[in-house]
Amino acid sequence: MSTKEKLDTSRIPQHVAVIMDGNGRWAALRGKDRLEGHSQGAKSARAVVEAAAEIGVKYITLYAFSMENWNRPQTEVAGLMSLLIHSIASQLGDLIKNNIRLKIIGDTSLLPADVYTQVNDAVVKSQQNTGLTVVIALSYGSRYEILNATKQLLHKYQEQPFDIDSITEQDFSNYLYTKDIPDPELLVRTSGELRISNFLLWQISYSELYFTDVLWPDFSKEDFFEAVYQYQQRERRFGKTSQQIATLK
Ligand code: FPP
Repeated sequence: MSTKEKLDTSRIPQHVAVIMDGNGRWAALRGKDRLEGHSQGAKSARAVVEAAAEIGVKYITLYAFSMENWNRPQTEVAGLMSLLIHSIASQLGDLIKNNIRLKIIGDTSLLPADVYTQVNDAVVKSQQNTGLTVVIALSYGSRYEILNATKQLLHKYQEQPFDIDSITEQDFSNYLYTKDIPDPELLVRTSGELRISNFLLWQISYSELYFTDVLWPDFSKEDFFEAVYQYQQRERRFGKTSQQIATLK
């Protein structure tokens, strides 16, 4: 039986977040330029989007470019931006055809104007789609997102004071980039690194974490199904005991 067939279709995660890591090492192992690793990584991103759609995942978030990535050598940053534009432009037709909606989270004001225009065009053209939502984290930093949410709340208070003690977690979430997106049940990181790297810190409070040694350019649909399968073997307790969970079932 294939891994996909082994999946419990009644327990597919709604939202899977992915830290696509290892492109540089994949390229170095082959004596290639880092950008070739990213280019191959873009193919894995497409495969994973297809895999997610096949099993009925509703949201997939891909960490494509972090706030910290702006500090990489200028040629790599430019190469990544160009790859993003081309990947999105060349796949927009397929996205629309497959009812996929594209969303971006991150500080898009830092993006070069042409990148912003392309990306925003794809977001607008796909916004009515109702199938899988592909969220691309671009110029994204989680601490920045949380700090920004806090600033917005403080501004709101300045304009019209309200009862501070009545603010709920849900209220706060409404100021995050992810306000209309459910929290991920599963976070995948490739390439053997066991870190979160400033990704969705608020949103992954209760996510199951799945780490694999596979380098991102080698990550296949089968690897994605395996991650979901492993997720389904976990017991999610949300701070409760196993016994409480068993009685709830
Ligand atoms: C991390 O590998 C990967 C990135 C910083 C970029 C991820 C981008 C893509 C996969 C391409 C485009 C994506 C989409 C959604 C079209 P690394 O460079 O840190 O690898 P290393 O740790 O081995 O050096």
